[in-house]
Amino acid sequence: MSDIPDGIEATAHGLRLALAKELEHGGSLRTPEWRDALLAVPRHVFLPSFYAALDGPDGITRYTAVGRDTDPGEWLRLTYRNTTWVTQLDHGATKPGGEPVTGTPTSSSTLPGVVVRMLEDLDVPDGANVLEVGTGTGYSTALLCARLGDRYVTSVEHDAGLSAADGERLASIGHRPRLVVGDGAEGDPINGPYDRIIATYSPGRVPAAWLAQAAPGAVIVVSLVGSLGAYGYVKLHVGQGEAQGRFIDSDVSFMPSRETERPEIGPLMRAAVRSRDDAAGLAPAVHPDTLDDPAFLWIAQLALPGTTRLRLAADGVTGRWFLGPDGSWAVLESRSDGTARAYQGGPRALWAELTAAASAWLADGRPGLDRYGLTVAPDTNTVWLDNPGNVAGVLGT
Ligand SMILES: C[S@@+](CC[C@H](N)C(=O)[O-])C[C@H]1O[C@@H](n2cnc3c(N)ncnc32)[C@H](O)[C@@H]1O
Repeated sequence: MSDIPDGIEATAHGLRLALAKELEHGGSLRTPEWRDALLAVPRHVFLPSFYAALDGPDGITRYTAVGRDTDPGEWLRLTYRNTTWVTQLDHGATKPGGEPVTGTPTSSSTLPGVVVRMLEDLDVPDGANVLEVGTGTGYSTALLCARLGDRYVTSVEHDAGLSAADGERLASIGHRPRLVVGDGAEGDPINGPYDRIIATYSPGRVPAAWLAQAAPGAVIVVSLVGSLGAYGYVKLHVGQGEAQGRFIDSDVSFMPSRETERPEIGPLMRAAVRSRDDAAGLAPAVHPDTLDDPAFLWIAQLALPGTTRLRLAADGVTGRWFLGPDGSWAVLESRSDGTARAYQGGPRALWAELTAAASAWLADGRPGLDRYGLTVAPDTNTVWLDNPGNVAGVLGT
């Protein structure tokens, strides 16, 4: 190991063995090939500093900096924890020091359990040419290099500064894969076609370029996210001109694509709260638990594109708010005594639309995510229930 003192490397190896055991026990690490890669790659090299998350008193997460300079032993131990460590907030504009600060994570090293699970799901044979989108810290890129060899690995990162740092860290442990700066949705035609494509950020749909750059028989693993914040982790098999596969679950989640346009929630929420007092309450036909079900939310966001959601609890009342991009809003207010009322306002009857989506989902037998599938054609991403002929909706951008 290049710049790592022997003492650290010996301790780190022990920590990697313990991590491998934990991931095998949890079922995410399944094959000797990925075990060897996990043991070979020093995660601490990719996490010279990171931000630890704490729950703030107001429910808003705060971050503090952790680095090898503050407490080297603790830092090293934490880098091998099966945890996601945030490494960038607000595109680098917020830099926590000793005092806890708020911010939106824009890059991280994903928890090894998820990284390894996805790599296992990718079913990578020796000699497969792999495209990764979302280089992040470079840790998952290093795992791919250790498993396959550098020339089979291409990784795309949106943030040029991160990509440059990744290149240095990878080189410090002897890896030189092709690193590209750009929008992962464009892939990288230069090194294609790819036998395997893995995304470690969450787009709203599978981009056409991935299909175009995938070799026949390729596998794509990606966790898609919609406007309601519900995730669909899917494994796709590429055939002639299209890719198809079933969703697996909603347990794999990443930060959204940096290219995703998000409505500003503050003004929408303030306008909704102002008109809430004038709205007449309705007896809701939908149970609050339905509005929290990841599979329902996954399918509801197909019916309500662009609608965002947030949950506010105060004075014994929990409000599940839905905010349409056009100023339409709906809220289900539930009280600790079990009673609930729904309210809606704005140009569209959003509560009525949510109720219709819930009725259809309940009539289908409350399907879990694993009953849904996806067909990706050059222009469309079509979601279906049980079989490709039973279309449930189409994914937007
Ligand atoms: C969760 S991190 C990746 C974790 C990484 N694979 C690792 O092991 O450290 C997600 C990364 O995706 C990048 N990203 C987000 N949107 C992107 C896009 N449209 N194209 C390329 N990279 C993107 C972010 O900048 C971030 O660094």
